Amino acid sequence: MEGAITVRLAVYPGSFDPVTNGHIDILEKSSKIFDEIIVAVIHNVTKKALFSLDERVKLIEESTRHLSNVRVDAFSGLLANYLEDKQACAIIRGLRTVTDFEYEMHMAMMNKKLIPNIDTMFFMSDSQYTFISSSAVKEAALLGGDVGSLVPPVVKTGLEEKMMNDG
Ligand code: PNS
Repeated sequence: MEGAITVRLAVYPGSFDPVTNGHIDILEKSSKIFDEIIVAVIHNVTKKALFSLDERVKLIEESTRHLSNVRVDAFSGLLANYLEDKQACAIIRGLRTVTDFEYEMHMAMMNKKLIPNIDTMFFMSDSQYTFISSSAVKEAALLGGDVGSLVPPVVKTGLEEKMMNDG
C-alpha cells in the first residue's frame, strides 16, 4: 500500500547470563540490517541463573546504549508466541563454531514449524569472539580470572560484585 512503512523488527532471544562481547558483536552486525531489534531475555524458572532477570536486562541495556535501534525485553514461554505478539520478521542467533550448529539447527527448525512465516538469521561471530561463552566467562570470573576483555565493563563490575557477595 502506498505510504505504508514496514518496520523490519527482529528478535534476538537468549539467556544472556551474562551478556558478553560476543553477543554485542552479533548485535552490532544485525542492527545494521534490521530497523529495530529486541533483545529478548528468557525468564526460565527451571534454569538457575547467576544474574536475575532484571539484572540481565539492565546489563544488556547499559551495554547497548551505542545502538539506538536496540531495545531489551524479557519473555517467558514459547518464543514463537512472543515473535507473533511483537510482529517480528526474523529471529537472530549467533554462530561461533561448528559445535553451535546442531543445537541451533534444531532450534531454528522447531521455531520454523511453530511459526512458519519467520526464519532464523544467523550471524557469524568475529574470530576474536568464537571462544567466548557466558558459562566460561562466569566460571573464569568466579575463580578469580580476569574477564575484562571478554565482557562489557558493566558486566565485569557485576561479576566482581557477585564474587564479593559470595564470599
Ligand atoms: O542463550 P540460549 O540459552 O542458547 O537461548 C535459548 C533460547 C532462550 C533462545 C531458547 O531456549 C528458547 O527460545 N526458549 C523458549 C522456549 C521455546 O520457544 N522453545 C521452542 C523452540 S526450541
